[in-house]
Amino acid sequence: MERVATAPAKAILFGEHAVLYGAPAIAVAVDLRAKVALNDADEWRLNGQPLDPSENPHLSSLIRWASAENRPQDIHVVSEIPIASGLGSSAALCASIGALLEGTPSSKERIARAAHSSEVEAQGGRASPVDTSTVTLGGAVVVSNDQWPGIEHCWDVDLSGPDGDRHWAIHSLSLSPQLKSIPLVIGSTGKGSSTAKMVASVAARMHESDFRASMDRLVTCAEDSIHLLLEGDPISIGEAMNRCHALLREIGVSSPEIEALIEAALPYSLGAKMTGAGGGGCILALTQDPDSCAHAIRCAGGEAFITTMGAEGVRIENFSENL
Ligand code: PMV
Repeated sequence: MERVATAPAKAILFGEHAVLYGAPAIAVAVDLRAKVALNDADEWRLNGQPLDPSENPHLSSLIRWASAENRPQDIHVVSEIPIASGLGSSAALCASIGALLEGTPSSKERIARAAHSSEVEAQGGRASPVDTSTVTLGGAVVVSNDQWPGIEHCWDVDLSGPDGDRHWAIHSLSLSPQLKSIPLVIGSTGKGSSTAKMVASVAARMHESDFRASMDRLVTCAEDSIHLLLEGDPISIGEAMNRCHALLREIGVSSPEIEALIEAALPYSLGAKMTGAGGGGCILALTQDPDSCAHAIRCAGGEAFITTMGAEGVRIENFSENL
């Protein structure tokens, strides 16, 4: 009997880079989904090919976590989420597969922890739980160093890695119906970039006092955005996105491709900003005119996806307990 699960993409709305210097990161699940189907098989297969553990470290880790080594599965993946674009495609796959691998349906916390551990293992010990907790919980998620007052605290994550001991508090922030109904257009530059390199380029300049002052403003912008999201006024949130983007540009993590898409989207948007590590990847535009905004992004050379914020997290579509 086939088992099926789906999980959404994620976009960082506020707090990229600043999260590494004390700010909260606020990410939303968006309604582009990855779908995974599992069927009993004689050997582990992924989309019709024998599973190569060295090429799929995420999967190997999940299989060990679920003690599923002796229950081989044919894994079939279909995804609307562009890969390597900062939209959490690997987290969505890990969460969907993690949701299906155990004998009985697992809790969201358990799935999120397993998906995060598999990302940590696959990324040499360095991965924040932002992507995996957002695609698992859905809605809007706040990840901070300490518990944040006034929003629902879900669980904590601790990690000992090459950068020392890290602690994160995971929260779920509820978005107003009005915010959930306003389209978020995602524009992809089509250019990949390395998160590790972008993070290192920022770290290398943190001793410069002007640079440090820009980072402090970015931290404040991310903190303020939590209040704006709770208040739910799209116009103020759009303005905060513009302010945040200007600061990200100031710290040098934008790129000519990102700037071209921002310039194209802005006339049709309440606000627009890059999302994630930068240097390539995607932009986000909050807009009441998604068709014109998407058209402008395409004319500027990008790929556009019209989405809404606050999509449901990982969801089991079909589950038979006799694996
Ligand atoms: O582009 P992404 O989705 O990998 O986002 C990276 C976010 C950073 O703040 C730049 C790095 C991090 O580990 O939080």
